[in-house]
Order: sequence, then structure tokens, then C-alpha cells
Amino acid sequence: MRKKVVAGNWKMNMNLDEGLSLAKGIVNSLKSMEMENDLDVVLIPPFIHLNELNGLLKDSRLALGAQNVHKETSGAFTGEVSASMVKSVGVDYCLVGHSERRVYQQESDDELIAKVNQLLKEDIQAIFCVGESLEERESGKEKEVIADQLAVLFDLDESDFSNLIIAYEPVWAIGTGKTASSDQAQEMHAHIRAEISNKYGSSIADEIRILYGGSCKPDNAAELFSKKDVDGGLIGGASLDADSFVEIIKAASWSF
Ligand code: 13P
Repeated sequence: MRKKVVAGNWKMNMNLDEGLSLAKGIVNSLKSMEMENDLDVVLIPPFIHLNELNGLLKDSRLALGAQNVHKETSGAFTGEVSASMVKSVGVDYCLVGHSERRVYQQESDDELIAKVNQLLKEDIQAIFCVGESLEERESGKEKEVIADQLAVLFDLDESDFSNLIIAYEPVWAIGTGKTASSDQAQEMHAHIRAEISNKYGSSIADEIRILYGGSCKPDNAAELFSKKDVDGGLIGGASLDADSFVEIIKAASWSF
């Protein structure tokens, strides 16, 4: 049985005080919450929050993630942050290949795999994001696009690959209020698992966690998470409000 994951990607939101009070609100709600099933809950704030949140989240059931790292280990890369730096402030997860970075920072496949390799060295679990644009879906190419994005990872050996989490985030559903239906999500997640199975075999494919992201909210989370290949969510907007995020965590805890 795969353990579900709910991860909140704060993107470029929240000053330090706002972020700390959001995190405290979530920690406090979870303390008193009965969970039917154990799951991983991850906060993915901007870099400036990581160090303080590391202290705040100790002894809580929340883990810490980073939104990005640089592809090199260290050196003259002004403005960048390395995998070992985020590791030193308690980061256990990191996003790679989010569609916003693929578009705005023009991140290439080579860069993405270099980042994954940096994270593997530091024992940080990469959450590798894939997703098709509206145009690609409307022209019926979505499965091909996702298979190509995924194939970038297929030079990894089995033990490295099995450390990853995949997040399916259709670009047309991010921040638009337009969620993929649970059937659309299930269909794509099953496709992702089949591609992994073709490459690495069914036991690795069965173990890999595949998250859905894109306008996932308290009112649609339970339905999405009830699908057999949907192992939780990568939440944007709804993770910026403690009550909404906690409702989504509850949905994941109850939907086995
Ligand atoms: P929204 O939940 O705001 O659509 O964002 C999803 C996302 O991009 C998470 O990484």
C-alpha cells in the first residue's frame, strides 16, 4: 500500500511572519486531528522560510520541502541555492520541473535531470512534475507529452528512480480553478504508472507515488484521492490557508 502525500507549494507567497503563522496554524490543527491513515504532509515554502520552519516543524508530523535547487553542487552562481544547503536546513523533499519554472526559467531536460542527481546525492526526495498544456490536450497529444517528460528520468538506475515522487499537474488546471476530473486524473496516472512499468517493471511502478496537482481544493480532494492511482496532491492556492489545507489533508487521510 502506497503512503499518501499531501504537499503544499506556497510558490512566491508569504512573508516570513505570514508563513510562520500559516505553518503554526497547520501544526496546531494536525495535533488535535484524528487521522484514519498515516500520510506524509509536506510544506514547500520559499527559501527564506526554510530555516525557521525547520525549528517549528520539529516534533510535528510535517516535513519540509524546497521549491528548487541549482543543478551544480556549489560555486560562483550568484542568487542560487544548492541541494546541500537546503539539506542543511532540514529539507527532505524538493520540486523539480514545475511547469512555472519550465516556462518562466526555460528549464531544460538536461537541467532537470542534473537537479534530480544533486537531490539524490543529498538524499532529498525529488517531486518531479509533469503536465501538458491546454493546446496539447486539445490536440490529443497529452499522453505522448507526459511520456516524453517522464522519459528524461529513464537513465536513472532502479534504486535512484524508486526514490522519486511524480506529480501530474496539467498546466491548464494550475491556478485556473479548472480541475481535471477524477477520471481524467486517474487515466493519466495509470498511463504514467504503465510507462514506469514498461521501463522499470511492475513492482517499482506499483511503489512510486503519483500526486495530482491543479486547482485541488477541499471540495474536490476526496474524489480525486479516491482514485486508485492518485496517491495524494500537490496543492498551490489552497495550501495558503490553514483550514483549506487541513481539509485536504483530512481528505487524503480518509480516502483509502
Ligand atoms: P493550484 O493548486 O493553485 O492550482 O496550483 C497547483 C500547483 O501548481 C502546485 O504545484
